[in-house]
Amino acid sequence: MREPILALGKYEIIQAIGSGGMATVYHARLSGPMGFEKPVAVKVLQDDAAADEEIVRMFVDEARLGARLTHPNIAGVMEFGEADGRYFLAMEYVDGMSLSMLLKRRPKGKKAKGLDPAAAVHVTSCILKALAYAQALPGPDGKPLAVVHRDVSPQNVLLDRSGAAKLCDFGIATGTWRAEKTRFGLVKGKVGYMAPEQSAGGKVDTRTDLYAVGLTLVAMLTGSAPFDGKDTGEIRAKAAKGLPKDRVDALSCDDGLKDVLLRALAMRPADRFASADEFLKALTTAAPDPTETGRVALAAALETALEKPPSTRSGTAKAAVAKPSRKRPSTRSSETADSAAGIRNVLIGAGLLMLVALALALLKIGLPD
Ligand SMILES: Nc1ncnc2c1ncn2[C@@H]1O[C@H](COP(=O)(O)OP(=O)(O)O)[C@@H](O)[C@H]1O
Ligand SMILES: [Mg+2]
Repeated sequence: MREPILALGKYEIIQAIGSGGMATVYHARLSGPMGFEKPVAVKVLQDDAAADEEIVRMFVDEARLGARLTHPNIAGVMEFGEADGRYFLAMEYVDGMSLSMLLKRRPKGKKAKGLDPAAAVHVTSCILKALAYAQALPGPDGKPLAVVHRDVSPQNVLLDRSGAAKLCDFGIATGTWRAEKTRFGLVKGKVGYMAPEQSAGGKVDTRTDLYAVGLTLVAMLTGSAPFDGKDTGEIRAKAAKGLPKDRVDALSCDDGLKDVLLRALAMRPADRFASADEFLKALTTAAPDPTETGRVALAAALETALEKPPSTRSGTAKAAVAKPSRKRPSTRSSETADSAAGIRNVLIGAGLLMLVALALALLKIGLPD
């Protein structure tokens, strides 16, 4: 194990904010003369991953593609660098939280509660705009790169406080530039958001991403992942069969939106929308939002979730309102936050016990025989 990372080249690390299998993402700061400061997100390959040539190649590909993507709904890549033998990717810092974290922090009653449908539609349209842009982006030969993200899921959608949603993590994206040479078992998307053809290891194209967008919309409307199971195998098996129609019928949203979802979630790619643009048009026709109600509702949901301390996360909405905290949680990774809170509680408990023991000892010394 190496020392914890405190700085990477010119970036000063503030805290870890997220981690997938192969990399850790940090909130960092870029400082300059006269008090200049810019927040950034820095994604660093974990040591064991950095020893694997194929993973490094994929990381470099992620950086290369990221450098070409400039769009308001994509977390922009600023730099790919190396410091102290570590490869890293500096990105625009999205000040908020991931969609998966927001859904986890929603008030939970007897039934998981989803986002306001207008907010869910707004996030979906942001993701579709990002995909439409990436899909059409021309490569060096002028032809579209035909980017397929392959990992569209709530963890890879970042929400900023103003209510904008940005797609991130093009780490396993593919397209016309990339010959599929990836070792079996290495490339993974989130199994619970994969289209049937992707989980079967078949050919993927933009319609595969559109299916994942459909499932992400279902997750937002219901407040929980579309497929559950005791392990990845069970989730994958359910996902491979597709989402039963009655699950869409049971959603609490307009019929027009349900029709859009049914098309996006068709088992056969040929029955889905042909492009992100087509999906977007159908979505905005079914659920028009000229006054930006969705963005405003999303910003409000984020504000509540950011104020909510991690310990009350699974409590009721009432509990969260009764004990407001103006302080932002110190980290957006629930695991890190929960374990930090646990350690703190143990330390406080141990301190109290020591005080009681000391008081008893003093009392004993002071007592006459
Ligand atoms: N640019 C960013 N700004 C803020 N948070 C980010 C940013 N990029 C990633 N994160 C956080 O880090 C997590 C993991 O990032 P991601 O790029 O998806 O890595 P991985 O490839 O390990 O899944 C995200 O779910 C999000 O919480
Ligand atoms: Mg990710």
